[in-house]
Amino acid sequence: MSATAARPDPFRPAKRVAGQRQDVWSIVNEAAAASPVQPIVNMGQGFFGYNPPQFALDAAKAALDRVDCNQYAPTKGRPRLKKAIADAYSSSFGRTLNPDTEVAITTGANEGMLCAFMGFIEPGDEVIIFEPFFDQYISNIQMPGGTIRYVPLYPPKDGATRTSSASEWTIDFEELERTINPKTKMIVLNTPHNPVGKVFSRDELERIGELCVKHNLIILSDEVYDPLYYVPFTRIATLSPELWERTLTVGSAGKAFYATGWRVGYLIGPEHLIKYVAAAHTRICYSSVSPLQEAAAVAFEQADKLGFWDQSRTEMKQKMERFCEVFDELNIPYSDPEGGYFVLANLSSVKLPEDYPFPPHVAARPRDFKLSWFLIHEVGVAAVPPTEFYTDANAHIAEDYLRFAVCKTDDVLETAKERLRGLKKYISK
Ligand SMILES: Cc1ncc(COP(=O)(O)O)c(C=O)c1O
Repeated sequence: MSATAARPDPFRPAKRVAGQRQDVWSIVNEAAAASPVQPIVNMGQGFFGYNPPQFALDAAKAALDRVDCNQYAPTKGRPRLKKAIADAYSSSFGRTLNPDTEVAITTGANEGMLCAFMGFIEPGDEVIIFEPFFDQYISNIQMPGGTIRYVPLYPPKDGATRTSSASEWTIDFEELERTINPKTKMIVLNTPHNPVGKVFSRDELERIGELCVKHNLIILSDEVYDPLYYVPFTRIATLSPELWERTLTVGSAGKAFYATGWRVGYLIGPEHLIKYVAAAHTRICYSSVSPLQEAAAVAFEQADKLGFWDQSRTEMKQKMERFCEVFDELNIPYSDPEGGYFVLANLSSVKLPEDYPFPPHVAARPRDFKLSWFLIHEVGVAAVPPTEFYTDANAHIAEDYLRFAVCKTDDVLETAKERLRGLKKYISK
């Protein structure tokens, strides 16, 4: 027998990419392609339905004309972008950030978080995340061999009958502390939160922070929606010197400037953490897209002067209010977001016909997958089933909800509303 005959099939994919279950994005896209209502109004994925502001677009175009911008950026990021971010964030951090040692640029926030885990997690280390979670956390933690421990955010008990504030999704702090053990190394926070729209209050952050200091944990605070808060917004890194020392804050120029395809993200934190994030980043992708880093630098330099942050926040809040009118009309309760651009609506009153022909892979999933499929086929609006962002054990918590992304043009929002009115005949009082 040849030496290679005994070898396992080389074409068998690695476990980390060979998941059996179809992911939510392909289920939603497949449903959209098969729907009799075309084109679908896609309120599912959180990409913007409009362009970045003109000052950012102009900066991107100008960057492409520059020789240095078309070549490798330094591994930790273009100096102009690190400085622009340090300048833009220093006041909200209450300290003068050092662009050379306290900022690292990454390929989107997503790769930034992968770098944080690659930089600090060894096989067997545990990381706590809250459910519902941003799905990429899972693979990002598992790639370096980390084990995930889940702590759910609980919706208000009467979320099916009453519109409530996203602040009413809460943590059981005793459950959180019970989850911490000697293997726990990190905890991931997300505020403003996707998909709940919760902005963690100062009090909640202080309590989480206390636990992290007591148990000596690193905090990864995913704040990619930080320009979009509709209630006071606090960064956990700013609560005390002890918390600054153990927190990596993650941001995204893609989210900030409506340019998710640019893939420009960044981490802010103390030198002893940033140094290893940057080391992992160098190994993973060496450096990030150079011309769009330059464009993001110019955008950060100009945004404040042009009143962009206020405008962005006001416009998104208006979109949220405009879209949620339809839920008020239909008496569909929702979780009123405190930040970000997602809204969770509770569709427990929508009665799905018993004999509805759901395909087996949808029929086997929680009710929100059926709701999502049904909406796409019956009214032509795509929304995301949030149980995808829960473990199977906790999926029941969110099975009556659907997540809608409102970062779309007003026309699209109006079309979505008109279509959703078609749900009336399925709603039981
Ligand atoms: C909570 C959260 N974190 C991180 C990201 C990723 O950001 P980026 O596009 O910069 O990688 C997203 C994108 O949807 C998100 O919702």
